[in-house]
Amino acid sequence: MKKKFIVAITGASGSIYGFHLVSALMKFPADVFVLMSEAGREVAAHETDYTTGPIAAYLKQTGASFHEQASLIEINPSDSFAHIASGSFQHQGMVIAPCSMNTLAAVSCGITYNLIHRAADVCLKEKRPLILMPRETPFSLIHLKNMTRVAEAGATILPPSPGFYTRPATIEALVDSIVARVLDHLHLDHDLSLRWGS
Ligand SMILES: Cc1cc2nc3c(=O)[nH]c(=O)nc-3n(C[C@H](O)[C@H](O)[C@H](O)COP(=O)(O)O)c2cc1C
Repeated sequence: MKKKFIVAITGASGSIYGFHLVSALMKFPADVFVLMSEAGREVAAHETDYTTGPIAAYLKQTGASFHEQASLIEINPSDSFAHIASGSFQHQGMVIAPCSMNTLAAVSCGITYNLIHRAADVCLKEKRPLILMPRETPFSLIHLKNMTRVAEAGATILPPSPGFYTRPATIEALVDSIVARVLDHLHLDHDLSLRWGS
């Protein structure tokens, strides 16, 4: 059966992480469900060349190539009737990349104002992989407590804090070194980034 992944891009800085992650997942014969919060769209338009329109088209413009059996399914975060809102919809993991402090707070408190929060809440209750890439600096005690609570509930906190020991020469390489860690956590084979000792 085809693997299925959910990627949510929220309004924290670092939309490029979400875009690179979706591009990386689209190299597998997988269904990739992508949601962008309203703030996520605004921030992405501010800090990348993404404007509006289909994310797949934008990624192809950036040079991404997709597996012929991969599908990118964009879902509106206000669509509470979408199949990913239900625990009966099976998938191999959800990643919120980047994750705003607002979305982190909602997920850590079990509040489901939109489909991103709901899909994350479903991951926790169904014990499916949920990876959050929180971005803010510095973190307040509230942020830290929200991260602790969501980690205690089963999520993985994977902050976009890249290592420099591989001497990344470009921002893209730096971003991919984090995306590579996400793929590791989703148990996907890849050669996106050098491994220590390789
Ligand atoms: C340019 C810009 C950068 C932002 N960067 C961050 C950030 O790094 N982390 C964060 O938590 N919020 C950041 N925000 C604020 C969020 O976008 C805001 O809290 C928003 O309500 C989040 O909504 P969402 O969780 O539905 O995406 C930023 C806003 C703007 C306009």
